[in-house]
Amino acid sequence: MAGVGLPAKGPVRPADVEVSAMFRKILVPVDGSQSALRAARIAAEIARKFDSQVTLLTVLETADIAAAAAGMAGMVWVDTTAGAALDAAAREVLSAASQAMGLPGDRVRQAVLSGHPADMISEVCRSRTYDLIVMGSRGLSEVGSLFLGSVSDKVSHHAPCPVLIVR
Ligand SMILES: Nc1ncnc2c1ncn2[C@@H]1O[C@H](COP(=O)(O)OP(=O)(O)OP(=O)(O)O)[C@@H](O)[C@H]1O
Ligand SMILES: [Mg+2]
Repeated sequence: MAGVGLPAKGPVRPADVEVSAMFRKILVPVDGSQSALRAARIAAEIARKFDSQVTLLTVLETADIAAAAAGMAGMVWVDTTAGAALDAAAREVLSAASQAMGLPGDRVRQAVLSGHPADMISEVCRSRTYDLIVMGSRGLSEVGSLFLGSVSDKVSHHAPCPVLIVR
């Protein structure tokens, strides 16, 4: 029968491809939390095993950018140094994760985007065709006993590829 054994249309799933080519491109969203760092270390182990390219992504939340630009409540105040500080903080988050992974430099890319984290992570995964997302279960606002933060919860529902959520 035609089509038997071929992957169905849509995102490539691990069961459709050779094991050695399963995880060529891995997306690792990081926010500076311990949970995300643990995820980065595990992503590095997977990358070593599968010869993968890893992209570390941090998303500057729209709310943070608006707060930095506003400066003070009630004033329209665009503070460019605040924007630069946010950018520097993002770079620091990325380089800490990169160090924790310990992969050769040519295997790791770093990206900073702005917007809603969960939407940006799923969108980047879709448009740049990643094979796997590895992320933390909780993030910077870890409070209470919830297993998943809102970003990992939303990405696990909307990402087009497998998602490994690291506790
Ligand atoms: N701004 C971000 N940029 C990139 N990755 C992020 C960002 N925020 C969260 N993540 C990823 O999502 C994981 C889970 O974080 P999440 O934000 O869902 O939990 P939380 O901060 O504990 O809860 P919440 O933000 O819902 O109050 C993090 O470990 C990280 O991998
Ligand atoms: Mg969070």
